[in-house]
This record gives sequence, structure tokens and C-alpha cells, in this order.
Amino acid sequence: MGLLEGKVALITGAARGIGKAIALKYASEGADVAFTDLVIDENAQKTVEEIAAYGHKVQAYASNAANFEETHEVVEKIKADFGKIDILVNNAGITKDGLMLKMTEQQWDAVLAVNLKSAFNFIHACVPVMMRQKGGSIINMSSVVGVHGNAAQANYAASKAGLIALAKSIGQEMGRKGIRANAIAPGFIETAMTQALPEEVRKEWMEKIPLRRGGTPEDIADVATFLASDMSSYVSGQVIQVDGGMNM
Ligand code: NAI
Repeated sequence: MGLLEGKVALITGAARGIGKAIALKYASEGADVAFTDLVIDENAQKTVEEIAAYGHKVQAYASNAANFEETHEVVEKIKADFGKIDILVNNAGITKDGLMLKMTEQQWDAVLAVNLKSAFNFIHACVPVMMRQKGGSIINMSSVVGVHGNAAQANYAASKAGLIALAKSIGQEMGRKGIRANAIAPGFIETAMTQALPEEVRKEWMEKIPLRRGGTPEDIADVATFLASDMSSYVSGQVIQVDGGMNM
């Protein structure tokens, strides 16, 4: 029997990258999977097919995680389609890097809205569902830069630090209702987001990683499975760094 047998998971921004790896791993462990992304295009449909191959229910929803109303609407739909929501992974995220002196208000607002407000939106919509079920696991996708900060990423780092504080606060507020909330802080993970970086920046990162390799989306999915499953039933309010031992 899989670690997530009988559970329903909702993952944001899971058409590709880390979110997709989590969706596949969850399905392989027996979960039914609802996921969102900005658009459900051919690539997202392919993701649906790959998840469906594990023999569990899967459905993709087009939804902008940064939009409060859209989020509430999509969570209502998912509740109707799946009957419950046991696991919420706030994974959708973007970068709009720049040094503070050059950072525009738009860069700041967009990153805070997509990375941090989105998690508020989904937690706000899902917590009443989880309360009725008397349990649930919430996982916020933070980053090592949310722990340590990073030059030229003040907006991204602040949003990722916010995701940690949000998880800790929800863990404290909702613990008595059986709801756990934790954060994962990935290091340098090989996805479209990091492939877009210049070669010298990638090299700099590699030199900082004791395990001397970038992480894979599957490395993150393994930890996300632990936090979603009953194996972590006494773990809440934590941030787990999955970064190859990097000490920034
Ligand atoms: P990615 O760019 O490959 O995937 C992000 C997904 O989120 C995409 O499918 C995108 O369409 C979706 N998305 C973007 N804005 C959205 C919105 N407003 N509403 C719904 N979906 C939206 O990125 P990756 O690398 O898979 O990252 C996933 C998460 O992990 C992000 O939160 C990222 O900040 C975080 N992370 C990634 C690291 C890395 O090294 N790749 C390191 C640390 C954290």
C-alpha cells in the first residue's frame, strides 16, 4: 500500500518542474491529484496523462494562484470533483530578479503576489475543508534564499521567507484542528527556472554545494511525500532544507 493511499492532494503550478514531480510521486504513492497552473495547455495535458498512468484520479485546473476569487472558485470545484482535500502544496512561483536600486514596483508586486499571496489564497480556501475533515497537511514551497537572503533577489527572498512564517503561523493556529503546516526550502534544483540562469551563475551555485550537484525535482518530491504522509504526523511548523548540504 502506498504512503498516500486514499488521500486527495492539491498542488499549485504543477504542469512542470518541481510541482509536476510532486504530483507524479504522490500518484505513485496512491493519492488522487488535483493540480492548477496558469493555463492547461498541451504540456499540462501531457502531465495529466503521466499522472493518470498510476491509475488514480487526476484533474488539471486553469487558475491564477495570485487571484483570491479565482482561487476560491477553483477550490470549490476541486471539493466538488474530489470530495475532500487532504494535502495542499503551495508550489506556484516565479522570479523577477534585480538589484534593489533597479527593482521596479511591478517586479516586487508580481513576485509577492504569485509566491506569497497565492499561498494565503489557497490556505484561506482550503482550511475550512480541512477543518471539517479534522486534519490536513499544508506544504509551502519556500527556498534556501528565504532562509539566508540573496543579492539581486530581495523580492523573491522576502516572498520565500514569508512562506516559512506563514507555515509556522498556520501550524500554530490550526494544530488543534489536526492541520499541520510545514515549508520545504529547496536549494539549486534543475528545472526551467534554473536552466534560465547564465552559465557562470550556475557554476557559482555548484561550487557552494557540498554534494557537488544540483538537486532534482524528485529530491524535493521525496521530502514533500514525507510531509504529506502520516509518517510526519507529529511534524508541524518546520522548514526542511533540501539543498545538498549547502551552507550559504
Ligand atoms: P517552474 O517555473 O519550472 O514551474 C513553476 C510552475 O508554476 C509553472 O508551471 C508555472 O506556469 C506555474 N505558475 C507560475 N505562476 C503561476 C500562477 N500565478 N498561478 C498558477 N501557476 C503559476 O519552477 P520550479 O523550479 O518547478 O519551481 C517550483 C517552486 O519551487 C517555485 O515556488 C520555486 O520558487 C521553488 N523553488 C525552486 C527552486 C529551483 O532551484 N528550481 C529552488 C527553490 C525553490
